[in-house]
Amino acid sequence: MNVSGKTKVCALIGDPVEHSLSPVIQNSAFKHLGLDYVYVAFNVKANSLKDAVYGIRALGIHGLNVTMPHKIAIIKYLDGLDETASRVGSVNTILNSDGRLVGYTTDGVGALNALKHAGVDPSGEKVVILGAGGSSRAVAFTLAEIASELVIFNRTFDRAKDLKNALCRFLGDELRIKAAPLTDEHLKKELEDADILINATSVGMKPNSDDTPVKQDYLRKDLVVFDLVYEPLETRLLREARLAGAKVINGLSMLIHQGAVSFKIWTGMKAPVEIMMDAALKKIKQSESSASNNGKGDAAF
Ligand SMILES: NC(=O)c1ccc[n+]([C@@H]2O[C@H](COP(=O)([O-])OP(=O)(O)OC[C@H]3O[C@@H](n4cnc5c(N)ncnc54)[C@H](OP(=O)(O)O)[C@@H]3O)[C@@H](O)[C@H]2O)c1
Repeated sequence: MNVSGKTKVCALIGDPVEHSLSPVIQNSAFKHLGLDYVYVAFNVKANSLKDAVYGIRALGIHGLNVTMPHKIAIIKYLDGLDETASRVGSVNTILNSDGRLVGYTTDGVGALNALKHAGVDPSGEKVVILGAGGSSRAVAFTLAEIASELVIFNRTFDRAKDLKNALCRFLGDELRIKAAPLTDEHLKKELEDADILINATSVGMKPNSDDTPVKQDYLRKDLVVFDLVYEPLETRLLREARLAGAKVINGLSMLIHQGAVSFKIWTGMKAPVEIMMDAALKKIKQSESSASNNGKGDAAF
């Protein structure tokens, strides 16, 4: 990588970002295509977000990824939003065009592309989504347009109802969208004839890797189970789904695919998805082996 005064800078902002895979993923793509770009990560605390956005303009940073906890808070500091980001109310990508910062969300299309990449077409399927947070909203707005039925489960039921109402207003269709509280009884019933189950909660994420949002008994062979959590790569939910014979898709696939759409926004070029995936898996292997050499026995992302 030959960094010079002309190199375009892209960056991730969030808190924490130290173990993010995004620098490895994006730099592998820039290098593969011989682009004069570099990608770095900045830890930005919530109370510094406004200053950070001024800094982006002042420093001429070309493109940004935005992660927790800034995906919603950053919107008020931007100059515009694309239609999807505006609808979802969340931003994970920014393009700086001569000082004008426009926000996008690539989470929904990233999830859709991860499904398609695994050979799963959600068109006309019954989809059950667990969670009503930022990523669930993005995924739900993308899939609601094509699924035959969408059921949103959330621990805080009011948030599931709010998301359902927002989707119904967007689609003008009350029938295909349902909201339900995250209880075994409701899950069992809705999963009986579901085609695709998506976990968009943080349940099962490291360090709580023994947790799962769904009882193993409800998982079956003809269900596709997609977990947005990518740390660990195989969550308890995915492990139990695999053992039940279900088709499983992990969160790394979505991370790569949403990153690929960000890449296109910044460069105008199609991202080399396989190269990005190989770079991420290599980095995960390295982290796992250095963690086990240090006696920690787990990967650091
Ligand atoms: N693979 C990717 O590219 C990608 C992209 C984005 C996010 N993610 C992952 O997706 C997950 C959610 O992210 P987010 O941005 O949507 O977070 P978020 O906005 O904070 O939402 C968190 C969701 O998890 C639910 N939740 C948290 N703890 C729970 C528990 N103990 N039991 C039941 N529900 C619980 C919350 O329910 P309440 O409303 O009741 O609090 C909420 O629905 C994270 O693990 C994140 O790493 C992955």
